[in-house]
Amino acid sequence: MMAPVNVSIIYYSSTGNVHALAQAAAEGAEKAGATVRLRKVRELAPPEAIQYNPAWAQHIEATADVAEATLDDLSWADAVLFGTPTRFGNVASQLKAFIDTAGGLWQQGGLADKVVSAFTASGTAHGGQEATILALSNTFYHWGGIIVPPGYTDPIQFQTGNPYGTSHVAGIGASGSGPDEATLQAARHQARRVVDTAAALKAGRSA
Ligand SMILES: Cc1cc2nc3c(=O)[nH]c(=O)nc-3n(C[C@H](O)[C@H](O)[C@H](O)COP(=O)(O)O)c2cc1C
Repeated sequence: MMAPVNVSIIYYSSTGNVHALAQAAAEGAEKAGATVRLRKVRELAPPEAIQYNPAWAQHIEATADVAEATLDDLSWADAVLFGTPTRFGNVASQLKAFIDTAGGLWQQGGLADKVVSAFTASGTAHGGQEATILALSNTFYHWGGIIVPPGYTDPIQFQTGNPYGTSHVAGIGASGSGPDEATLQAARHQARRVVDTAAALKAGRSA
């Protein structure tokens, strides 16, 4: 029997919205039969920035037990789902800083042929969700990643509506109630699709 697909879900979250999507993606991947690592990237913001926003400080405390991502989480994985909040229409610097430690691994060919996909959260509906996911995709091209977007491959996608990757509108300035059930379901679907694709590739390569 083929070994299960290894999936790393690597995310950054300040106030918990992307973390909630990452957890849903982990559920979806596990349900699809994958071995899953849920990993946050290291916080890099100075304490004075964090203390300015109580929801940020609270979230750091609430997720203290989530392991930090390492390069092994990339090399181990057959598939990687990345989660990032939208920051000025772009990828959060914390996630980018982690990605930028992967130059050596890339040079050794350790990032090629991985199935990759991304999800995000933003403050507003037109605040740059697609731009953020597409910005992250630039990196995937350099890796020789196999990008697996959700598209409209499940009825839930017609409800939540982002074919680039699961996206949540968090609202401005509020800690909010987090992604609703439909958005979490979209994250589970996206992860399942990633696992199914990675499993087919893994089976094909070992045949
Ligand atoms: C520095 C900064 C830049 C942001 N830029 C945007 C933006 O360009 N568009 C937007 O809609 N929201 C923006 N936001 C709001 C965040 O995207 C939103 O709060 C985030 O998605 C929440 O995710 P989290 O709870 O996982 O941290 C920004 C927030 C910060 C702190």
